[in-house]
Amino acid sequence: CGIVGVVGREDAAPRLLEGLRRLEYRGYDSAGIATLVDGQIERRRAEGKLVNLANVLAQQPLAGTIGIGHTRWATHGAPTERNAHPHGTARVSVVHNGIIENHAELRAELEAGGTAFETETDTETVAKLMDHHLAAGATPEQATSATLKRLHGAFGLAMVFAHHPRKMIAARRGSPLAVGFGEGEMFVGSDALALSPMTRRIAYMEEGDWAVIGDAGADFFDADDRPVERVVKLTAFTGASVGKGNYRHFMEKELHEHPIVLGDTLRQYIDPASRAAALPALPFDPATVPRLTMSACGSAYLAAQVGRYWIEQIARIPVDSDIASELRYREPVLPEGGAALFVSQSGETADTLAALRLLRSLGQKVLSIVNVDESSMARESDGAVLTVAGPEIGVASTKAFTAQLAVLACLALGFGRARGVLDGAEEARLTAALLEVPGHAAALLEDSTEVLELAREVVQARDVLFLGRGSLYPIALEGALKLKELSYIHAEGYAAGEMKHGPIALIDASVPVIALCPSGPLFEKTASNLQEAAARGGRIMAFTDAEGAPALRRFAERVVVLPTVDPFVAPILHAIPVQLLAYHVAILKGTDVDQPRNLAKAVTVE
Ligand code: G6P
Repeated sequence: CGIVGVVGREDAAPRLLEGLRRLEYRGYDSAGIATLVDGQIERRRAEGKLVNLANVLAQQPLAGTIGIGHTRWATHGAPTERNAHPHGTARVSVVHNGIIENHAELRAELEAGGTAFETETDTETVAKLMDHHLAAGATPEQATSATLKRLHGAFGLAMVFAHHPRKMIAARRGSPLAVGFGEGEMFVGSDALALSPMTRRIAYMEEGDWAVIGDAGADFFDADDRPVERVVKLTAFTGASVGKGNYRHFMEKELHEHPIVLGDTLRQYIDPASRAAALPALPFDPATVPRLTMSACGSAYLAAQVGRYWIEQIARIPVDSDIASELRYREPVLPEGGAALFVSQSGETADTLAALRLLRSLGQKVLSIVNVDESSMARESDGAVLTVAGPEIGVASTKAFTAQLAVLACLALGFGRARGVLDGAEEARLTAALLEVPGHAAALLEDSTEVLELAREVVQARDVLFLGRGSLYPIALEGALKLKELSYIHAEGYAAGEMKHGPIALIDASVPVIALCPSGPLFEKTASNLQEAAARGGRIMAFTDAEGAPALRRFAERVVVLPTVDPFVAPILHAIPVQLLAYHVAILKGTDVDQPRNLAKAVTVE
């Protein structure tokens, strides 16, 4: 979901719409805006994409220089116009991200007092509670203070009030909000990106903060209503850096940014002179840490899985890993003096953040790998390592994923050296292999004809299997996840050795088997698993390198040859064609590549 707010000097509606466009990448299924016209609240809402809202606005324009806007990703109540934000009464209009956990209790209480509700949304309880206080004569500030104290859950709010044409109130608990400072104008957004056309001067609200925003500045208060100062910083984002350039989709553009992003990230964490990993200060000592717990969601979790293979193999540190939504309720057994590693592009994913907080509260030292340095995870960890991927707009992670792999690879090398299990020569050999990856990625992206041909086969399938072994196994899972996300074709990833224990029953000519099978110590094993599938009529399509190709050509229907690299870096390189494949299949199917249905970029609800 996304929030924008404007206390401006020109018409608010077009600016709100533009801000919402910049938040589109987060995924949503309805949208709406509200402004103040002659002191009265007016709103326009629409189901589906922003173009629908733009059409509504073209037919019924909305005047007013102050307003709030929202893109909604449905949690409570279907994605209909009626449930779309803003919600409100004649006195107050509210947009909201996150979940009000005690909404049922609040609703019952208000209904008992005679309040009628129009929707099933949890947001409407906030609006009605605010209205209840305002009707009793409270000021917007008093009503906000009283209402916030009753709300449980994680949320971000922005509100405007009838007859208060220069006042907006925003509140942050769990769901980030940025306040933007203009020239005699003020803005609110779920991230700095939404505000980038309007201002680069941003103050991030802290957890529990609420702010009263006028046209000349903002007054910030903490959860106990004490006035607080929040620093205004200049963000690095410019309007230009989030455009699509000459590409048709953000995903296409971001796929082509692999070489540069990998280069930038590796340069950050490898010292080119000594050919050694150059890690930032860590909140734990890798030489003595008894165990690492790694966790994340979605693609970031799969990057963490590759990291787990690397850290165990290269640094010999025991690693436990789990998806964040499981870890947080699993009651994990954690070693004294242990550390935890969380991976996230946004740094805001609710499940990951909750698992991070839990492990920190249980005494683990927490390091997070994030792409947004002002994110909640970066701020709440004991240390953070940044991926240098730049803003990623396509909902499906591409360049952020390979940048996460690059950071994890450097960490594994640094940990290995610290533990005395990786000698200098070997480290230099592995860093050299890493530094070659950006060049190979560029070569691979130059010509994707073969992947496109493969996509033409895959688009016809109803089910697809992805197989890989070792550090390529998480990439097989990522291949299947990407294909599901982008093309809605059912796909599963399996460890190649596990196929014979069940999935082999699925094998027939209608289920393409996509194998990630580079040369290296596990090549023979993977190749025999593929032969087992081929012998049962399976159609094998393999990604490999020049060394592996001849053996696979004997039974595979298609073999795509990637540059030959050290097995250590093979997962990074193989991640790229797997993403490209999903992209091409989605284009052939005509699905919405940048915003697949039902998905959100940063899921800030549990
Ligand atoms: C969402 C996105 C996924 C992403 C996951 C984790 O589900 O749709 O593409 O991998 O969140 O996001 P994060 O920002 O924590 O990396």
